[in-house]
Amino acid sequence: NKKITIAIDGFSSTGKSTLAKQLANHLGYVYVDTGAMYRAVAFFAMQRGYISAAFFNKESLINSLSFIKLEFKFNASLGFAEMYLNDVNVETEIRTIEVSSFVSKVAEISEVRAKLVEQQKQMGANKGIVMDGRDIGTVVFPDAELKVFMNASASTRAERRFIELQEKGDQVTYDEVLKNVQERDYIDTHREDSPLVMAEDAVEIDNSHLSREEQFDAVLSLVNEIT
Ligand code: C5P
Repeated sequence: NKKITIAIDGFSSTGKSTLAKQLANHLGYVYVDTGAMYRAVAFFAMQRGYISAAFFNKESLINSLSFIKLEFKFNASLGFAEMYLNDVNVETEIRTIEVSSFVSKVAEISEVRAKLVEQQKQMGANKGIVMDGRDIGTVVFPDAELKVFMNASASTRAERRFIELQEKGDQVTYDEVLKNVQERDYIDTHREDSPLVMAEDAVEIDNSHLSREEQFDAVLSLVNEIT
């Protein structure tokens, strides 16, 4: 079978990463969660005091981008790769509701996007990759052999995210999560640089009423048609 590039885009909490991980495991491909990279940059900005609920010093973040090193390291016992920011494992820190509340503002900055897209392109240079995000099929890999665009109702997505955060012991309410999901969707679809939009040649999947298995089987048959 020939190796292909699979781009998975869509709104927040549509289960992109679950599907992408399943596919990568099944096909023996590399999985890259690009949201984790934007989250790590947002976490860096928080640590440096460049961003808070009250202000955002974009200039300082842009000026320190060369001090940000992002790496994925595979954790064999977990079965997936974890995000490292300047050699420190930040996998847990980047998943909080606080980082979620800042990340879309950080992802609007063209200089941030340029740096991350460049690294993402390099990671996919040898194909055999499943990458999920917002601009993978449109900007990072416009020539991907398979592009999937995932969607689900905002309430379905907020419910899934809420359960996930609760399981981790995060003290959030459902309303906070729903508000965050809606805010990120708005910023992600309205930004000037690489807005979230379905690529013309993408296959749209609304999984509001699909089980994980049904969704996986549907996409796997698309892969099998190509390879
Ligand atoms: O996928 P996840 O929800 O973790 O992504 C967090 C945020 O990172 C998104 O809401 C979006 O603002 C940004 N992002 C992006 N481009 C990507 C991946 C994520 O702008 N390719």
